[in-house]
This record gives sequence, structure tokens and C-alpha cells, in this order.
Amino acid sequence: MDDKLMLMIPGPTPVPEQVLLALAKHPIGHRSGDFSKIIAEVTEGLKWLHQTQNDVLILAASGTGAMEAGIINFLSPGDRVLVATNGKFGDRWAQICEAYGLNVEKVTAEWGKPLDPEDIRTHLEADPEKQIRAVIVTHSETSTGVINDLESISRHVKAHGALMLADAVTSLGATSVPMDAWGLDMVASGSQKGYMLPPGLGFVAVSPKAWEAYKTAKLPRFYLDLGKYRKEAAKNSHPFTPPVNMFFGLQVALKMMQAEGLENIFARHDRQKTATRAAMKALNLPLFAPDQASSPAITAVAPVGVEAEKIRSIVRKRFDIVMAGGQDHLSGKIFRMDTWALSAIATSSLPLVPWKQRCKNWAMRTLPQVPVCLLLLKLFFNNSG
Ligand SMILES: Cc1ncc(COP(=O)(O)O)c(C=O)c1O
Repeated sequence: MDDKLMLMIPGPTPVPEQVLLALAKHPIGHRSGDFSKIIAEVTEGLKWLHQTQNDVLILAASGTGAMEAGIINFLSPGDRVLVATNGKFGDRWAQICEAYGLNVEKVTAEWGKPLDPEDIRTHLEADPEKQIRAVIVTHSETSTGVINDLESISRHVKAHGALMLADAVTSLGATSVPMDAWGLDMVASGSQKGYMLPPGLGFVAVSPKAWEAYKTAKLPRFYLDLGKYRKEAAKNSHPFTPPVNMFFGLQVALKMMQAEGLENIFARHDRQKTATRAAMKALNLPLFAPDQASSPAITAVAPVGVEAEKIRSIVRKRFDIVMAGGQDHLSGKIFRMDTWALSAIATSSLPLVPWKQRCKNWAMRTLPQVPVCLLLLKLFFNNSG
């Protein structure tokens, strides 16, 4: 990738320099004592990030691999599952379930609107025999910038008794996903977003209730058999050859997060989201997700009178900033910006980096944003005049 290109897409996201340096180290043996120590340390860090006492397992996979593992380990062919979807990644859950022969029922909301937890409650109450085995939800829907009320949804799922399976690919590391407090049974995520790493690692957190379901689950599994990962993790080991350098990066990224503290991380993302949304409002650019259900990680903008693709292409060509377009029927209608790019500025001000480097990082990453604002202003005034 061109050094000067700034990623503001929803993933991969910018990786802090100290993480890049860790990734550049010589690999070590994955059966060595040194690597076991790293597994032990990152596993504790992942539990901290998930706010859980449960197992958090590390896969060499993208987020979708973690999602697939979260299905095939706990369900059997023909099981009834309720997929609540309001975007592309919610729909992906349904596709995975269908590919494995599960009996998929759906609760939907329009793309750009949050799921209504009451719809899920109603659907579950219509199942007094408790045949629905799992409810599956995307927490932060990257395709639209909407965040769903996972806490309320999980409460209704607990009342019913089904497993609560969640995609936290764009919410972990940006907002609180307290697995234990919310009673989540499986949380899937991937390294290329809030973790501040390149793509390549998938994470699956598993509750004791989900492990119970694992014992009788009959869907086929081998590489993604989480029992293997759990058994090895208990010995600070890994069932296969893991991408050891990604573990080096993960170790540093988690240290950075712990130095900052969960509450500060969440507050920072919230500030960045608020600033991004305020800027778009000031430019009269309509936001796709409502304020009360806006993701702290992704802001989607639906310009009127200015082509979304034109904005993206000019910003890319003139300012080397890459923003994402819309997906599926939203293609050409919206553009999407992540707030992790802005986060990278703040993160690089952590004490781990010498001050000169911090100033340089800040300047390199902040200055390109100024022209984006100017460009948006110019486009806006050209088209509103
Ligand atoms: C919410 C959400 N879920 C799942 C995925 C799939 O992750 P991956 O592309 O790493 O397989 C993504 C990727 O953007 C995502 O944003």
C-alpha cells in the first residue's frame, strides 16, 4: 500500500506504528516457551477487552471465519435459529446458517434503522416450546453505521432460553461489549478493526452455556472446531500453526489498550463519532443512521444532490484518503467513514511512543482530514447554490 494513503474505510483500519514494528519481528517457534507466554498474556488481555471470565479463542481467520465457528460449534442440522438483521452483515449470518442447513427465521428492520428488541421478544414469545435454539445479531452493522441494542435483545433471549450469538466485529474495541453482564453466549470479532491490527485473526468468546450446547452440536467441523482451541488454550498453546507475528502485534495492541483503559477508549470513540456527525450535519450532509442508534465506529453519509461516489473518488485522488462506498442496494447512495482512523491519532499519543514521533504521527494523520472537510464544503456549496 502507498505510504501516504490514509484508510478511512471500516476495515482494515490504520495500524499504530508500535504494532507495525512488532509485526516486523522475526517469527518464533509456535511450540516454544516464549510463544506460550505470549498466548497466556494475550488471552488474559482478550478477556479484559470482552469483560468476561469466559474463554476467548484465537483463530487464524477473518471475522467471517469467527462467525462461522460461532454457528457450527453450537448447532445441529435443522435447528431453528432466529437471525435479526438490518444490513449486510446481519444477512451474512443468515447465509452462513442456510449454508449449514439450519432452519432460519428472520426479524428484520430497514437498512439504516435499528432492530426493535420488541420484535425479537414477540417472535420468541410465539415459541412457547422453546424450539428456537439461537438468536443471532450483528451489534454494530458496518453496512449502515447503525448500532443495535444488543443488551435489550439479549435480555429477551435470556428470558426465552435460546443461545445469544453476536457479531461484535465493529463494536469490540470501540464501545462496551460486556459479554458477562449482557449474558452473551458467543461473541465473534476480527483483528482489522477496533483491535488496531491488520486482518488475519478471528476471535470467538464462548460462554459455559454455549459449551454445553457444543457437546451435542452435530454440524460438521474440523479446522474451526472450538473444542480443539479450548483444549490447547488451557496449555497456553494453539492447535495449528498460528500466525505468530500477528500474536506479537496483538500483544502490543492489547498493552496499548490496557494503558489507555476501557472507559477512555469508549469515550474517545464516542467523541470522534460525535465530532464526525456534527461535521456532516454542519455541511448539511444527511447521516444515514439516527443519532440514538449510531455506531461509534462507522459513520454513513447519504448525500443529497452530490454523488456519494464523486465525493469518494475526489477525496481519494486529490487527498489520498480512502473512504468506503455503500454495499448492495446502497451502492452509490452512501459513503462510509470509520472513526478508527481518527482513533489512531489519539492512540499514538500514548506514552509508549516518543514525543517527536507522536507529533509526527499526529500531523501525518490529522492534516489530511482538513482538505476532506474543505472538499465537502466546496461540493456542498457548489451544489446548493
Ligand atoms: C459487522 C461485520 N461483521 C462481519 C464482518 C466480516 O468480517 P471479515 O470481512 O473479516 O470476514 C465485517 C467486515 O467488515 C463486519 O463489519
